Amino acid sequence: MTHAPTPRAASGSGARAVRIAASILAADFSKLGDEVTAAERGGADWIHVDVMDGRFVPDITIGPVIIEAVRAVTGLPIDVHLMVVEPERHLRACVRSGATSLTVHAEVSPHLDHVLQQIKDLGARAAVAINPSTPADVLAPVLGSLDMVLVMTVNPGYAGQAFIASALPKVRQIRGWIAERGTSIDLQVDGGINDATAPQAVAAGADVLVAASAVFKGHGGIEASIARLRRAASEVTV
Ligand code: DX5
Ligand code: ZN
Repeated sequence: MTHAPTPRAASGSGARAVRIAASILAADFSKLGDEVTAAERGGADWIHVDVMDGRFVPDITIGPVIIEAVRAVTGLPIDVHLMVVEPERHLRACVRSGATSLTVHAEVSPHLDHVLQQIKDLGARAAVAINPSTPADVLAPVLGSLDMVLVMTVNPGYAGQAFIASALPKVRQIRGWIAERGTSIDLQVDGGINDATAPQAVAAGADVLVAASAVFKGHGGIEASIARLRRAASEVTV
């Protein structure tokens, strides 16, 4: 399989590789395997799975059964975004089903440090997400335990929402912390990412772009949509 070269965004401290995580939330679930395969063929770096419980966010979506189905058709990393209360109850099942990384929300995790440790003990990469209205400061105490930070650029719950640009200063702030520490924490953005907003997110310091609608509902099909997103992300100069 030939993947398009991963773009590198210019930054003050050297080029960063930008990865695209295709969120299956906007995929056609009646042919999920084909959709995931097309995303992989189009050069998606990760597959992003949005787990929602109808409590932390209004909707109920999918869980370990679908992670397992995705794992059966791809070798790409599966990035599981847990928009659920009490995420610790679901970690093991997600990892068993094939999750590579697990992201929990700071807003529902009073024992963040403990949850992150549980994720690592299960052998997965550990990440914390913050909503648009949650300050980045909540991450500071656990930065040393993180493989990735997710800054939400919509209020979690649905695909197809408009990008909230006021979250970008937090991306810049966290990018600064990562540079100061000299660590390799991934900095992900999720929500409303498309050809127009991806450059803004990358310029602010993001290096993992989650996109659902822009990948699975873009014109010209999945592969062409990923190529456009990649091009947009690579046209950034900081
Ligand atoms: C939103 C989810 C996102 C969603 C993004 O709560 O966490 O991953 O799938 O959808 P788009 O890219 O359409 O905004
Ligand atoms: Zn998500």
